[in-house]
Amino acid sequence: MATVDLVLPHHRYTIHIAPGLLADLGSMARKAAPHDRATLIIDDKITDTHGQAALASLKAASFDPLATTMTASEGHKNLATVQSLYHKLLDEHLERRSPVIALGGGIVGDTGGFVAASYLRGVPFIQCPTTLLAMVDASVGGKVGINMPQGKNLIGAFHQPVLVVIDTDTLNTLPKRDFICGLAECVKHGLIRDPELFDWIDQNINAILAQDSATLVELIERNVRIKAAVVMEDEKEAGVRAHLNFGHTFAHAIEAGTEYGRYLHGEAVSLGMVAAARLAAASGRCDSTVVDRLVALLKKTGLPTQANDLPTNDKLMSIMQSDKKVADGQVRLVLPDQLGKVSIVNDTPAHAIAAAWNTLR
Ligand code: GLY
Repeated sequence: MATVDLVLPHHRYTIHIAPGLLADLGSMARKAAPHDRATLIIDDKITDTHGQAALASLKAASFDPLATTMTASEGHKNLATVQSLYHKLLDEHLERRSPVIALGGGIVGDTGGFVAASYLRGVPFIQCPTTLLAMVDASVGGKVGINMPQGKNLIGAFHQPVLVVIDTDTLNTLPKRDFICGLAECVKHGLIRDPELFDWIDQNINAILAQDSATLVELIERNVRIKAAVVMEDEKEAGVRAHLNFGHTFAHAIEAGTEYGRYLHGEAVSLGMVAAARLAAASGRCDSTVVDRLVALLKKTGLPTQANDLPTNDKLMSIMQSDKKVADGQVRLVLPDQLGKVSIVNDTPAHAIAAAWNTLR
């Protein structure tokens, strides 16, 4: 088993990564959050498979669990779902020491985490991510929250988990398209901070796509180490944590501009990273080889690097202006300086952003 420790001034937790780990969820949860009760929130697509395994493990460790499901769509990551979960926990008299455990992808983790952050002013939270994207990004670092009609993730909190349990076998039932989406965040980690990881993904791409068990553990461990290091440096996104948003301002505009129906998050991030890198190269910030290497690796993973069906630049630019990362009315972009190094840039002219959008078409 691989483990990564995340140490903050007032909190520390371990991220465990191994195949078959759900069988040990109960015993690990008991150590991290000792109580007789627990709430298990399960993505309703995996209730009968991983949900049953998690439930059996909790019961074997003498938990009396409240199991509930949620539909993992952006439309369900909202206050109505949170309110219905509050009612269930209150009706069952769940107490302050009983953990909330989220089993699923980022949507279940974000929603379950928001419930954990706010129920009785906060209860222990355990992340059991079952998508590659949630394993390498969303489940680590404590960002939890929900969507509003006005936009994604506008209501939320920082609520660090007490434990993260990554069972890599759960990826066996993940649709291939979703698995590939997780690779966008892995490539991102390499580009913003770790050229060796970038090269490693390139060299091991066949084993990664074949979902070789040992390769997956190494891929996830390497990425979790980067995510954990960033969070340890800057838990509340006052500085370096914003680097994780590389490609995301473009990506959010693509997702919102296509009504969240055409591109999965990782696909939009892939396109967003290409646009951001081309913008950086066009303005002389980085060498064009950074763009070439990024595009080549994204193509190898199967992620899109070109999109002929994007909304107009006017629409995309107006969504970018309403992004929560806008500061003092200026779009904040994360742009590469070189492979493994990025900077936050606040003064990019609108015509340069429009030109970057055009390179994707
Ligand atoms: N997913 C970006 C962050 O956790 O900061």
